[in-house]
Amino acid sequence: MKTTATAYVAMNPRRCTACWECVGKCPKKVIGKTGILCHRHVAFKEADACIGCGKCIKTCPQGVFFKPGEAVADRRVSAGMAFRMERLLPLAFVASAVTGVGLHLAGHGASHEVWHNWSVAHVVASFLWLLSVALHVKRHKDWYKALISKSAFNGRRVTFALSVCFLAVAVTGILLVACVEGANSSLGLWHYKLGIFLLALSLLHALRRR
Ligand code: HEM
Ligand code: HEM
Ligand code: SF4
Ligand code: SF4
Repeated sequence: MKTTATAYVAMNPRRCTACWECVGKCPKKVIGKTGILCHRHVAFKEADACIGCGKCIKTCPQGVFFKPGEAVADRRVSAGMAFRMERLLPLAFVASAVTGVGLHLAGHGASHEVWHNWSVAHVVASFLWLLSVALHVKRHKDWYKALISKSAFNGRRVTFALSVCFLAVAVTGILLVACVEGANSSLGLWHYKLGIFLLALSLLHALRRR
């Protein structure tokens, strides 16, 4: 049975970033994984087995676990606009991808108006994705700090490649809207190819979270 409290510890799963550090640390295998895609978080799967050793409280970098009765007012996730905006991530991702491919196909078509409509849709969708990824990255800033300070890439390759590729796609996209007129420029084709690669990496990044 999944619960958010044992006799000794409680949790706020909304703070969980699914790093799974705590899962292996619990000596009684009380903590399990639940949810799908970007809604992954921990749950107490064997609450009755908890011995109150407190390892989960010490391990979690996000402060998910706390002693029952402890004040939880400051433990709420960064609620409000920023939180909701990051939730847009998968939706804006699909919208940016679909409109990006649509825009590319429209570039091969005869109608400039159709191309223009795809272009507007793509810029709006991509801007939303850009914004939600910026918030997602901000929440994971410690991951980047750890990457720089430890220079440890093991197990981090996909997310690292994704970050570099995202930057390249965002920069070429912004250059396209600022400096390039019309379809099928060489910068546009680079942006498109990188965009397809980015989609593959994003899918890998999201699906690897089991
Ligand atoms: C479809 C798009 C994406 C989805 C669905 C997605 C989903 C997730 C999920 C579920 C996590 C772990 C738990 C959480 O933070 O909620 C995560 C972690 C992370 N994401 Fe993403 N993400 C996406 C795109 C990106 C992009 C484009 C970047 C970088 C530019 C990025 C950078 C990170 C980092 C640095 C972490 C923490 C380290 C890690 O666990 O790999 N994500 N992402
Ligand atoms: C961070 C995400 C992205 C941003 C910020 C972005 C932004 C942009 C911008 C601003 C343009 C210029 C539109 C215009 O000139 O009217 C553009 C064009 C384009 N984008 Fe993206 N985009 C992103 C992701 C993608 C992805 C994932 C794909 C493909 C799957 C893609 C495919 C294209 C194509 C084909 C064009 C037209 C290029 C041309 O022929 O000029 N984009 N993008
Ligand atoms: S250590 Fe904290 S953030 Fe990581 S999975 Fe466990 S509860 Fe979630
Ligand atoms: S207090 Fe100890 S036994 Fe209980 S869930 Fe946390 S780590 Fe597991």
